[in-house]
Amino acid sequence: MALVSSVLDLIGNTPLVEVSELSPNPAVRILVKLEGQNPGGSVKDRIALAMVEEAEKEGQLAPGATLVEPSSGNTGIGLALVCRVKGYHLKVVLPANVSEERRQLLRAFGAEIIESPGAEGSNGAVRLANRIHEEHPEWVYLYQYANQANPKAHYEGTGPEIWRDCPEVTHFVAGLGTSGTLLGVGRFLKERNPKVQVWAVEPPAGEMVDGLRNLDDGYIPPIFLELGGPELLDRKTMIGPRQSIEWTRRLADVGIFAGISTGAALAGAARCAEQIDEGTIVIVSADGGWKYLSTGAWTDDLDVVVERARQTIYF
Ligand SMILES: Cc1ncc(COP(=O)(O)O)c(C=O)c1O
Repeated sequence: MALVSSVLDLIGNTPLVEVSELSPNPAVRILVKLEGQNPGGSVKDRIALAMVEEAEKEGQLAPGATLVEPSSGNTGIGLALVCRVKGYHLKVVLPANVSEERRQLLRAFGAEIIESPGAEGSNGAVRLANRIHEEHPEWVYLYQYANQANPKAHYEGTGPEIWRDCPEVTHFVAGLGTSGTLLGVGRFLKERNPKVQVWAVEPPAGEMVDGLRNLDDGYIPPIFLELGGPELLDRKTMIGPRQSIEWTRRLADVGIFAGISTGAALAGAARCAEQIDEGTIVIVSADGGWKYLSTGAWTDDLDVVVERARQTIYF
């Protein structure tokens, strides 16, 4: 694809890279899908475009419409990009303790920021956005946690791309945030080959890995239940912040500069590789490392980085 008419045409079709040298089991291959290559820098460009296009199709978005969305990072950035290109106004509700890189990126694309209490984390942003939506029903509320276009974007895009590039896949391992990636890709791959195993990576309850959530922490995304998440997932595996950062560093050894949830997914894949005799694991790298530079994740003492990540939301 040499020439495209819009940057939106560059969303999707991301590369799959083999990193089997990081596998603890020589009979198990590991491949990483690099979603950081999307124009807004993350996997969320896919769902941002899909949700906006679905709302357009349903006649919800008049020219110049205003949208409101809770997001501490990637979805907000993806939506800000898509809205800017298409001429919509975006208000993003995000916790006050989100890193400065995030705010600046959102502002670069012209989004307005509404702050929710930092101590309440992303659940607090969701609560405030719900309230704002009740007060302003005229603003379009796409709400990624309950929007079917989210898993659909992965069912129609990410999943078929993985199958096209790696039909020998035996395991799919990804972080769980809204659960859109796991549901959409997992369903697609299982329809093609029911033997494919789907593993979700969660942080331990009460701990943070940016972009990921533990379903026991008090909020289960409606799409997860509506689309049969509990039956679709074969395993859930817990990966904490420290291990996520260690594996994010290992990715740099093979030249991949990825965000911290990619380290979590890779740690999950390594655990999976240790437990099977042979196979091919595909993981999703949700974003690149750029937005996490101020964590010091690659360079500083691990304990210091873990503590820093506790205080500031980097995703
Ligand atoms: C950095 C990062 N990793 C992982 C995820 C999880 O993806 P999903 O929301 O599709 O479950 C997200 C999104 O929430 C994310 O931005």
